[in-house]
Amino acid sequence: MRKRIPTNTIRIGMYVDGFDTSWFKTPFLRHHFGIKSQNQLDKILESGIDHVYIDTDKGLDDLSDEQQAPPQADVNKVPCLPAKDVAPDDSVFTNYVRAINDLILIDKLCLIEATAVGFDLFTKTDMDIVPLSVARNSKGELVITKELLASPCELMIDRSEIQRYRDYLAKIAKDSGVAHGHGSKNMIIKETARLLVRDLFNDPGNHEKVEACKDTVETIISSIVDTKGLITNLFTVNKHDYYVYTHSVNVSVFCVATALAMGIQSRAELFAIGLGSLLHDIGMSTLPPEVLYKPVQYLTEFEAELLRGHIFEGLDIVNLYKGIPPEAMPPLIEHHENLIGTGYPMGIKGDKLHVSGKIISITNTYDTLTTSRPGFKAISPYEALAYLRDQNSLYDADILKEFITVLGKSSQ
Ligand SMILES: [Fe+2]
Repeated sequence: MRKRIPTNTIRIGMYVDGFDTSWFKTPFLRHHFGIKSQNQLDKILESGIDHVYIDTDKGLDDLSDEQQAPPQADVNKVPCLPAKDVAPDDSVFTNYVRAINDLILIDKLCLIEATAVGFDLFTKTDMDIVPLSVARNSKGELVITKELLASPCELMIDRSEIQRYRDYLAKIAKDSGVAHGHGSKNMIIKETARLLVRDLFNDPGNHEKVEACKDTVETIISSIVDTKGLITNLFTVNKHDYYVYTHSVNVSVFCVATALAMGIQSRAELFAIGLGSLLHDIGMSTLPPEVLYKPVQYLTEFEAELLRGHIFEGLDIVNLYKGIPPEAMPPLIEHHENLIGTGYPMGIKGDKLHVSGKIISITNTYDTLTTSRPGFKAISPYEALAYLRDQNSLYDADILKEFITVLGKSSQ
């Protein structure tokens, strides 16, 4: 449907179907195109044109007043998607996207019984996300109970409370020498990395966060090297929903451990593959969440093109960063490629693929297959590995073998 909307409401993912002004007064040669990048968006916003026409059949719709309501209004009871098919124009989907955009899943295993936390929690059980109400101490802080830790629900925090959660983790880390072992240390490394990557996705131009990501990769490598390849608690299992930051950390950990298992011992090489794989989906940060989390079967041709464009968007972003070794680029460029050249974006195949590209094509697929998301129910690790083994023309069998070994000795 063609709609006329105020220019200041346009977003990446919309399909422009004309400008409400004379052709000569616009800075564009074409007046019918999908908005794929921040550059395009900025150019339109700076054009001084008051209204544009969009085609909602080819791209995203504008948000109604109701959809623009503050997220807190819905947080009291946000229905969660079943893994089965869900129409993306359904209010369930809209609420789901908003919830996973504004709330952050945390790993319950990082919480210590009887400790007070300086942030509020939300419980997520199947279809419901609700604020947690348990006993509070005299300072009004939630106190972690045995029952909460034993319950099957997942826990989330509001994104505005990330720093408080970080402070809690730092305190736990400080105390961990007393009561907790290496597994606990790994969990805190992993959790800190997830928060950091989430921060970077929200603010991909922030160089301080990029530097922090480099430090995180070094920490991850040290932990894996110290334990001779053990990655227990360094990655997230039981992923009931897809979060790009959880995925990025998992894939990075899998890649480093697999590279190490293959005999790659150079710290510089491990760093390049660790960092490249941590940033491999950074281009996704330019996508509207409605596209990022939309069931693949509902993507329009334009949205699918937009999604595939995350490789080049990612390259553009990473090229702005200082001190990224060139060897960190193959994981980003090649993670959707395969041995026979039917992947994207360039159809690179066989020996033309970098070794880190071959590694990440396996770990990326594995992590994706073992994570539920709207319209897709996760398959088990065993089924995912069987799938990868069956696709032997696409993935390097020797590398897959090493990856299976890594998972085998680190299963949680
Ligand atoms: Fe990707």
